[in-house]
Amino acid sequence: MYTSQAVSKIILAGEHAVVYGHPAIAIPVSSLKAYASVDQSKQFQIILKDLDKVAIKADDVHPFAKLAQATQSLIGQELPAITITLKSDIPIASGLGSGAALATALTRALLNYQHINIPQHELNNLIYQSEESFHGTPSGIDNTVVVYEKPIYYIKGQAPTPINTINNFTFLIADSGISAPTKETVKAVRGLYDRDRQNIEPILNEIGQIANSIRDAIEAGNSKLIGELMTENHQLLRQLTVSSDKLDILVNAATVAGAFGAKLSGGGRGGNIIALVHPENQTTVQQALVDAGAIRVIKTSLN
Ligand code: PMV
Repeated sequence: MYTSQAVSKIILAGEHAVVYGHPAIAIPVSSLKAYASVDQSKQFQIILKDLDKVAIKADDVHPFAKLAQATQSLIGQELPAITITLKSDIPIASGLGSGAALATALTRALLNYQHINIPQHELNNLIYQSEESFHGTPSGIDNTVVVYEKPIYYIKGQAPTPINTINNFTFLIADSGISAPTKETVKAVRGLYDRDRQNIEPILNEIGQIANSIRDAIEAGNSKLIGELMTENHQLLRQLTVSSDKLDILVNAATVAGAFGAKLSGGGRGGNIIALVHPENQTTVQQALVDAGAIRVIKTSLN
């Protein structure tokens, strides 16, 4: 039995603006993962355990079937007669990169089974194509952070830049319990942009500048500043209409309980918020988030 894994991710700054060419920052989250296992079988198929009852066959019009085919054409081989079973701890449609993680685990399992290694950037391209089939016009940030498993500063179409940290930062990720497809919020922002470019463009620019300032503040080890910038980023995302009452309540609960700052993360209108906390304050903020209605709170670190 061959197994492979892929991490989840969270966006620290710059979501939505990244689609328009502005910088964004994402970090891997290793406490939630997608997994793939391989068994011999009569024909190639993919089973999404706990997600879908029907097995995906090689010729199906499913992004994962297309991904397996694209992987095999890259390496010039036919699909092997195996069953790849995928499972995941990552909640779907909640801004944690579940689709990119499942796709990465799948491709790694397929390649591992054939004892083939491909460069990271080629794996990243394959996963980007799969994200395109799910989302339409992804910026590429999700697949990049999931494949490289490192904190990244990302501009669409460019190689990711690693972020150097001198301090250890503690983040809490709180799930609103509401699933909201990224495709829909990306479409909503596109609608706003097309109708009212004059007012929307400055908001996107400001989000991009915040991402730059957050990178500098991470490299300088300045938690207070990172927190303030995160909360500012949240206010700008509200102006883009991608927040919700529940997300605002969670962000507010975190800051009132003493977090350095907080913001929604990912597509928005549901999914998760992320808060930067002092380790000594972690339990208090965590409790405040649960009291405010978070269905789960996990901790992740940047170091
Ligand atoms: O997949 P999510 O929900 O974390 O969102 C990705 C970030 C967006 O900027 C909203 C979309 C994109 O393609 O970058």
